[in-house]
Amino acid sequence: MNMKRKAKLIIGSLFTLSIGLSSCQHSATSSSQTMDQFISDLMSKMTVEEKIGQLNLPVTGEITTGEATNSDVAKKIEQGLVGGLFNLKGVDKIREVQKLAVEKSRLGIPLIFGMDVIHGYETIFPIPLGLSCTWNMEAIEQSARIAATEASADGICWTFSPMVDVSRDPRWGRVSEGNGEDPFLGGAIAQAMVRGYQGKDIHKQLKNNNQIMACVKHFALYGAPDAGRDYNTVDMSRNRMFNEYLYPYQAAVDAGVGSVMASFNEVDGVPATANKWLMTDVLRNQWGFNGFVVTDFTGISEMIAHGIGDLQTASKRALDAGIDLDMVSEGFIGTVKQSVAEGKIEMSVIDQACRRILEAKYKLGLFADPYKYCDLERPAKEIFTQDHRAMARQIASESFVLLKNDGFKGQTPILPLDKKGTVAVIGPLADTRSNMPGTWSVAARLNEYPSLYEGLKEMTAGKVNVLYAKGSNLVSDETYEERATMFGRSLNRDQRSDKEMLQEALRVASRSDVIIAALGESSEMSGESSCRTNLDIPDVQKELLKVLLQTGKPVVLTLFTGRPLTLTWEHAHVPAILNVWFGGSEAAYAIGDVLFGDVNPSGKLTMTFPKNVGQIPLFYNHKNTGRPLPQGKWFEKFRSNYLDVDNDPLYPFGYGLSYTTFQYSDIHLDHSVLQKDGKIIASVVVTNTGKYDGAETVQLYIRDLVGSITRPIKELKGFKKVFIKAGESQKISFEITPGLLYFYDFDLNYVTEPGRFDVMIGGNSKTVKTAQFTLE
Ligand code: NOJ
Repeated sequence: MNMKRKAKLIIGSLFTLSIGLSSCQHSATSSSQTMDQFISDLMSKMTVEEKIGQLNLPVTGEITTGEATNSDVAKKIEQGLVGGLFNLKGVDKIREVQKLAVEKSRLGIPLIFGMDVIHGYETIFPIPLGLSCTWNMEAIEQSARIAATEASADGICWTFSPMVDVSRDPRWGRVSEGNGEDPFLGGAIAQAMVRGYQGKDIHKQLKNNNQIMACVKHFALYGAPDAGRDYNTVDMSRNRMFNEYLYPYQAAVDAGVGSVMASFNEVDGVPATANKWLMTDVLRNQWGFNGFVVTDFTGISEMIAHGIGDLQTASKRALDAGIDLDMVSEGFIGTVKQSVAEGKIEMSVIDQACRRILEAKYKLGLFADPYKYCDLERPAKEIFTQDHRAMARQIASESFVLLKNDGFKGQTPILPLDKKGTVAVIGPLADTRSNMPGTWSVAARLNEYPSLYEGLKEMTAGKVNVLYAKGSNLVSDETYEERATMFGRSLNRDQRSDKEMLQEALRVASRSDVIIAALGESSEMSGESSCRTNLDIPDVQKELLKVLLQTGKPVVLTLFTGRPLTLTWEHAHVPAILNVWFGGSEAAYAIGDVLFGDVNPSGKLTMTFPKNVGQIPLFYNHKNTGRPLPQGKWFEKFRSNYLDVDNDPLYPFGYGLSYTTFQYSDIHLDHSVLQKDGKIIASVVVTNTGKYDGAETVQLYIRDLVGSITRPIKELKGFKKVFIKAGESQKISFEITPGLLYFYDFDLNYVTEPGRFDVMIGGNSKTVKTAQFTLE
């Protein structure tokens, strides 16, 4: 039979099958039977090569990460040797490539198209660390929903997000991509993101063409590399894994995430990519995950350098461990057939992986309509729309964290600013469009989003005179600046001397009433392979800040950063500090909204800011040790402390100021004894004691005071973000059930243990009210 005709016939019959499925509204069981049957039929027609081909994911398109280059992709698609592609941008191109697969390959199996849609597509939201600081799960879900709408309009049906790696080490550049240090909050965010991408109702996900498959990553423990250096070794007890690091991945699985990405690092001495305990025992057998697992970029071939063996051995180890899709290494299509012939790999393992990839395509509806995500009319109507941008602006303004807001010369706090007079926006981050969206925004319209200077000028036109000077380069070392401004995010290094730039800045500053110092990191100073050992604001910028402060004018440090920085000096000397992270496409307007008081800041940190790098890792949910430092002291001999700095962070987890103030009452518990199947209601009254209406994130922490293993001094177990008008009070209640008190014991049984617990409620992890209850 003519090949083309055969392909069409098969597609035709697939189409009928799935139409039958939806029109008959089969129950979950019968629809999965239908899917199983359909895939079994298809697989019975596939050759070994075609099955292995489904397990191959090359990179393509203008957007590449890593080092691999792939030619001849088209030829491979025609031969049925490709399961999907990623980072190809443009629905027209994707449609063309899909057509190749559907019309030119023997069985016409459609491809899956993935992309790193991490914090928005063309409408960009704040970097994930910033987004997490909103503590607003609806907003986060909405950001993922919009990202899915835009990406799917452009042909993408699969995103490599959410990234949920817990991290306590701000030296690691990828903290910018995660949700900070807390597993409970990270789990809530993971679920919100999965809902946003795949659909709210777990039973109806991926039905519409604006829903895309999520991929939780990087499984597992990628956020804990030795020395905070990317791709470095991770080594951790199972106790710590299960109680502190694994929860957000599992939360994503519980929310129905369709795929999982293996991390680059090793877990217990075996690279995650070859770790059967992790990928099969934990992920599938314990957690019940039934989607597919993809490696990270060249994850299989990197196992040669890890010392696991040659490409054939590494590929076999990965497949046996439970990896289904090989991103870029071409280890599966290159070696697996030979391994089968040599009796090293069972055909059943290949069948299982192939089935999982086909199931994902089926769930995405690609067999029913391979062009489901290829509607050429959609991009113009659904990408970078006014509505999406308005939402991005609102969410960005919620992500900013006001770290300090003192009075200037004994007067009222500097912020918010009046919309009048002259404002000087000074610093290397003041007038850069390409750095606004932040790292990992591969589909961004770089150079189209307004810089801070442009945005402020536009939004205050006719009221405020906005001036600009660059003031300094990013760092004094030119080669460092090159490394920190890759991927089109240049800061156009100024060739003038530091002195000339400072003088210009001073001239501009002298004409202003207020100085907005736009300083910090460039967007590529955080993210993948962007680790730092010195977390200060870079040298030349600090000099600039000192000189600006010496003018005697009020200075607002508008801090751009992808990670917690060490701001001890700045905290001591700068009256107002607004941390704006990288706020996305609408960041400039959102910053203006907050600086000029149209929005009252409400972001709260999700990662501790240390006083210096030597304190790292510093996190709020640590253990007490046998020699804790007595409260209120900062050094005592033979206690767990340092000679040269106290144990406290500069800004604790959960911290963030507002233009108003909130006062907390003592905690009221309706019972002090918690029965096994009972609950306790813990309440506080929160009063807005300031002049502005504002939002407050009320945080619930619990401490298990005595256990069969040691337990953290506090753990986040609940939070509520509430809006309270100036002068008004609200009663905020949390339900405490035994479900919140489970942990993994020494033998990794998931248990609760009777005894005493502290319950703490407050506006950050340090300043809390405390009460006690007993679990029977
Ligand atoms: C490597 C990164 O670790 C991962 O997060 C990303 O999704 C892949 N590259 C694909 O670009």
